[in-house]
Amino acid sequence: MPTYNDVLEAHFRALFSPEDEVLIRIRAGIEARGMPTITVKPEEGRFLQFLAAACGARLALEIGTLGGYSGTWIVRGLQPEGRLITLEREAERAELAREHFALAGLAERVEVLVGDAHLLLPRLTARAPLDFIFIDAEKEGYPAYLAWAAENLRPGGVLAAHNACRHGKVVEAGQQDAATEAIRAFNQRLAQDPRWIASLYPGGDGMAVAVRTNSR
Ligand SMILES: C[S@@+](CC[C@H](N)C(=O)[O-])C[C@H]1O[C@@H](n2cnc3c(N)ncnc32)[C@H](O)[C@@H]1O
Repeated sequence: MPTYNDVLEAHFRALFSPEDEVLIRIRAGIEARGMPTITVKPEEGRFLQFLAAACGARLALEIGTLGGYSGTWIVRGLQPEGRLITLEREAERAELAREHFALAGLAERVEVLVGDAHLLLPRLTARAPLDFIFIDAEKEGYPAYLAWAAENLRPGGVLAAHNACRHGKVVEAGQQDAATEAIRAFNQRLAQDPRWIASLYPGGDGMAVAVRTNSR
């Protein structure tokens, strides 16, 4: 049975998702500031770009900016006039992300909002419906982010959530930490709720993906 392994990952990363100079510099910039190197992998970034393009997204939301790496991939998949709103709790990270979006020539198309996403989201309801949402913040918050997304994504809009596998912990019975339990609950709700057609992209740490249906 074919298996997605390190060799295939390297092969397809080089083939489909090579980073350009800007993305390389963004990743290096995050590392140089001593920030955690927990950005999505290039193939995950490319997949986000693909998803945003496939649903013709004009207005996208990202929860969890860090230094703007995944955000840059997403904006590159939006319609030419498309915009990204991205939420980051840490002011220093948000500032670096702004620098990186400027480096990428995308400053005019991205709003970096600083604060706790749980406090910012109620205000963003006024901007709904959104076309695309990417969740990549604290794992305990995923169920709440999913509930918000179900109310604020347009039918046909796409949701993606990082770390759906939690590095394998979701299938290890002994793993009962709050973050793993939250991801399990998130995956289960996404899979069973008729408001979503959901699946899992198995690259990186797993990306849960779903299309918003017409169900209320
Ligand atoms: C995994 S990193 C994001 C990586 C980024 N999406 C990328 O791939 O380039 C998660 C980020 O979410 C931020 N974060 C965590 N909890 C948050 C919250 N409740 N509200 C806003 N940001 C949060 C963290 O400070 C961190 O920078």
